[in-house]
Amino acid sequence: MSWLKVFNPCSNIIIKIMKEIKVFAPATVANVVCGFDVLGFAVNEPGDEVEMRLTETPGVVIKRITGDDGRLPSDAAKNTVSASVQHYLQHVNRLDVGVEIELHKKMPIGSGLGSSSASTVAGLFAINKLMGDLLTPKELVPFAMKGEELACGYGHADNVAPAILGGFVLVRSYEPLDVISLPTPAGMYAAIVYPEVDVPTKDARQMIRSKVLLKDAVTQWGNVAGLVSGLFMNDFDLIGRSMQDVLVEPTRSILIPGFEEMRTIAMENGAIGFGISGSGPSVFALTKNEEIAKKITKAQQLYLQKININSKAYVSSVNAEGPRVL
Ligand code: HSE
Repeated sequence: MSWLKVFNPCSNIIIKIMKEIKVFAPATVANVVCGFDVLGFAVNEPGDEVEMRLTETPGVVIKRITGDDGRLPSDAAKNTVSASVQHYLQHVNRLDVGVEIELHKKMPIGSGLGSSSASTVAGLFAINKLMGDLLTPKELVPFAMKGEELACGYGHADNVAPAILGGFVLVRSYEPLDVISLPTPAGMYAAIVYPEVDVPTKDARQMIRSKVLLKDAVTQWGNVAGLVSGLFMNDFDLIGRSMQDVLVEPTRSILIPGFEEMRTIAMENGAIGFGISGSGPSVFALTKNEEIAKKITKAQQLYLQKININSKAYVSSVNAEGPRVL
């Protein structure tokens, strides 16, 4: 963080303005199996970093992107970080401000871990800090949704809301937007494995049926209510029973190598529940402690190695704070 000393003629005093900032924003597990587009939680690792500087020249520019293998656009209108910062500045009537952005991708793209969301949220958190916290974290959610719209064609909030607020989040409604923070049971861990095959969210969304049977909808909303109740009641069994998806998982799991085998490994090693993280191909299990989570990711990675799929694993408690200044 660096500061600029500025003389304020109104108050006749020198004030300090933050001029530069570096922010980390966390990866997220969207859907949490049964809550397509309405549930998500944040993890402590992985995540992305954004460095941001205020300049004298109005406009938002991307100065540098690292860790993306050249896959992300540096055109400020197309990059989710700069585009959402631009929306923010327009909203707060500060189009006179100049902003330089460096984005450091520290997590895989197209992994189902909310990669675009982590970058966008880091950028919005950074600009909001540099502008003196003009908006509350909840008020940043619609700007981050714009970034998701740019990245995958639909402005879903189940990654960006937990990335901004931390913890488990329910998106009760999109119109109007109604985002609700949920409690995290003590000791809960996430065991995440990313099989290194690319599944862009845009494609993974297009393959889902747009019409569902009423009997399947009944099963699904029973499970969403059960999962939310389980979080409030610290009831791991109820959470586990509710982690079932009859709408989306049957279609999307086809794209994930060894999906059923990884489920068997997770459940046999004591997972509370198992499923696809976001739109995949990452999978996750919720566990009662870190030891079980480590056992699960180790066994799943060994299995993926046997079928010649490279993978990355992350074991993390639920991130309670959202983004943080580095
Ligand atoms: N709810 C979104 C989806 C999350 O499943 O497409 C994307 O990570």
